[in-house]
Amino acid sequence: MAQLWGGRFKSGTDRVAYEFNASISFDSRMYKEDIEGSIAHATMLGEQGIISNEDSALIVEGLKGILADIENGKLEIGSQYEDIHSFVEAVLTDRIGEAGKRLHTGRSRNDQVALDMKLHTRKTIDDIDSRLCRLQKSLLNIIENNLDTYMPGFTHLQKAQPVTLAHHLGAYFEMFIRDRSRLADIRKRMNSCPLGSGALAGTTYPLNRERTAELLGFDLGPTRNSMDSVSDRDYLIEFLDALAIIMMHLSRFSEEIIIWNSNEYRFVEISDAYSTGSSIMPQKKNPDIAELVRGKTGRVYGALMSLLTTMKGIPLAYDKDMQEDKEVAFDAFDNVSACIELYDGMISTIRFRNDLMEKSAKNGFTNATDAADYLVKKGVAFRDAHGIIGRLVLKCIEENKALDDLSIEEWKSECEVFENDIYEAISLKTCVDKRLTPGAPGHEVMEKAVAYYKEYLG
Ligand code: ARG
Repeated sequence: MAQLWGGRFKSGTDRVAYEFNASISFDSRMYKEDIEGSIAHATMLGEQGIISNEDSALIVEGLKGILADIENGKLEIGSQYEDIHSFVEAVLTDRIGEAGKRLHTGRSRNDQVALDMKLHTRKTIDDIDSRLCRLQKSLLNIIENNLDTYMPGFTHLQKAQPVTLAHHLGAYFEMFIRDRSRLADIRKRMNSCPLGSGALAGTTYPLNRERTAELLGFDLGPTRNSMDSVSDRDYLIEFLDALAIIMMHLSRFSEEIIIWNSNEYRFVEISDAYSTGSSIMPQKKNPDIAELVRGKTGRVYGALMSLLTTMKGIPLAYDKDMQEDKEVAFDAFDNVSACIELYDGMISTIRFRNDLMEKSAKNGFTNATDAADYLVKKGVAFRDAHGIIGRLVLKCIEENKALDDLSIEEWKSECEVFENDIYEAISLKTCVDKRLTPGAPGHEVMEKAVAYYKEYLG
């Protein structure tokens, strides 16, 4: 047992209680942020004359050495310490002696952990953002190459109107734009520095909080209320919320990939690298990665619910309940990172069966709306046109054929207005390319969307 307190205690902590309380097993991953925060704090303490310049320099050098040694594997983070803060301070004092004991002047673990968690979250936001950016690049590559790949668009999972693969995947590109803009909002709002808030009520030392905020890249400067600073985890809840939404998007995408990959649809073939087999059925090739992404969504939602619940009854300021933020958050960080990366790999290697998509779009009356619109353009009221086409669709279903297969006499038997140009009017190409309202799948508007996406990605 190695801890930073004990003076006012008569006897030691119960073994089980000690282990229950310790956080080193999971907060050790914040070693870098802890050291960076301490370097900024010690630098400022020296500049303010709160500790001597010599001590400040010794501490900073010592901390840099600890960081280097952890990173090159020379120093192992021992599980006997209560938390990462205790570990760093103990090793520092061990290495540089007296000066190490001055590091914690004017600081509490409450503002220290608030800082570490913010730095770690900020870094993870940037990491998730760059992963989403890479995924968008892969998606855009597929979009660009499939502006004329026709497929059925669905509502109620029933074939509705023809779209293109580019248009369908463009919907996900848009979701990821919103996800990234949510991350940017959160990052902007959270970027204030809690260091210097002390345990809850600031400190009597003349700290320069602007300086530490600046050293650590917090462009909003120091936080304004020390009680709020040590007990605020809003930014983490917001981030988990953004991660939950990202997972919801990936989960919907997964659901579609799974359907498209099914024996019935065969719109896609997931590459061997992202599929698995069955131990008993030799023919099987399962979309496990997509299924796992869909499955892990629940886990990330759980992290959000968990932290919201942890925070809801906590009186100001810091309470140990807040230590519970870490395991669920880190689990969510790691899983979302992995899911985005795997998604990038999976969609970059997937084989789209353009031929089968197009065939499916042809056999499902996806051009029925366009057939009705044809009549409207020739002066028939839409409601009448709807009825006429509905009857022709019924006839086709009974005779097991497509609208395109009707002879001109058959068209005319329902309405005299039909002419030979009906065939061209309801071809997939016409159905798609005539849809030129902004946001529609028509080739020309999709080209504009692609230009926008390219500019967006820079
Ligand atoms: N491990 C603690 C946490 O994660 C660090 C802060 C401890 N502060 C305290 N007063 N015991 O919240």
